[in-house]
Amino acid sequence: MSVTVRVPAKVNVQLAVGAARPDGFHDLANVFLAVGLYDEITVAPADELRLTCSGPDAAQVPLDVTNLAARAALALAERYGRRPDVHLHIAKDIPVAGGMAGGSADGAGALVACDALWGTGASREELLGICAELGSDVPFSLVGGAALGTGRGERLTALEVGGTFHWVFARAGRGLSTPAVFREFDRLNEGVGIPEPVASQDLLDALAKGDADALAAAVSNDLQPAALSLFPELADTLAAGRAAGALAGLVSGSGPTTAFLARDASGAQEIAQALTASGTCGSARVAVSPVPGATVL
Ligand code: C5P
Repeated sequence: MSVTVRVPAKVNVQLAVGAARPDGFHDLANVFLAVGLYDEITVAPADELRLTCSGPDAAQVPLDVTNLAARAALALAERYGRRPDVHLHIAKDIPVAGGMAGGSADGAGALVACDALWGTGASREELLGICAELGSDVPFSLVGGAALGTGRGERLTALEVGGTFHWVFARAGRGLSTPAVFREFDRLNEGVGIPEPVASQDLLDALAKGDADALAAAVSNDLQPAALSLFPELADTLAAGRAAGALAGLVSGSGPTTAFLARDASGAQEIAQALTASGTCGSARVAVSPVPGATVL
């Protein structure tokens, strides 16, 4: 018997970052959209916890207990007093260390898959609590759709979205470490008074209306200067996407994947082709948002 769970990637259409807190985290106003690029996590009974991974970036995925999928299985097993005796397989399509919450998706997916396999009867609130312990973006990977994340991003309020948005995501040649990008944010803002992060009402209205032009005018990412400082070539990718007709281009989360908003599906295909041909990035893929969160197949 096995269980497979499909989990989407995310893009942050607003990432407002506050000053570093005493615990080292930053308060955020983080508007997440789940996008239709997916990892699939399959769990099956085994003698002991084992992790395998397939897909184009598989070689970069750690297969030990630092992987959020393994940590999710361990956390659920501990809570229910059982052995984490499963083989977890990750079929990975979300860029690794890309700023699209691929690791968080695997954590949420493994949690939902183990929960279904073991029949724990855990409530959704309980699963969301474990997600928040695993990482700031993991609760959103579970719920999907669109949400505002506050606190360190883990406290979610669902958002209404009045249509489908068409995106292009350009892979970068290497990854960026999220803690390193936050450290660079702190360095760039040393001595600067950073305001409390708040969600943009224009952005929330644009989402509710499903208005791509208004969304393009309102997107923002406070981590973008830090990501560009660590990875200056991303500016060329952003310029190439805008030249190809994107309504907006921004770094996704802590990067280095860049996200481009298109007017419609055919516009997204054109931008993806132009980006791939530009030589400024690796492959460029189209995806729609919002999509549901972790789903048992
Ligand atoms: O929560 P998560 O483990 O995904 O966070 C990874 C790292 O990103 C943290 O160790 C911290 O350096 C940084 N971070 C932060 N503020 C947040 C979320 C993450 O500084 N709100």
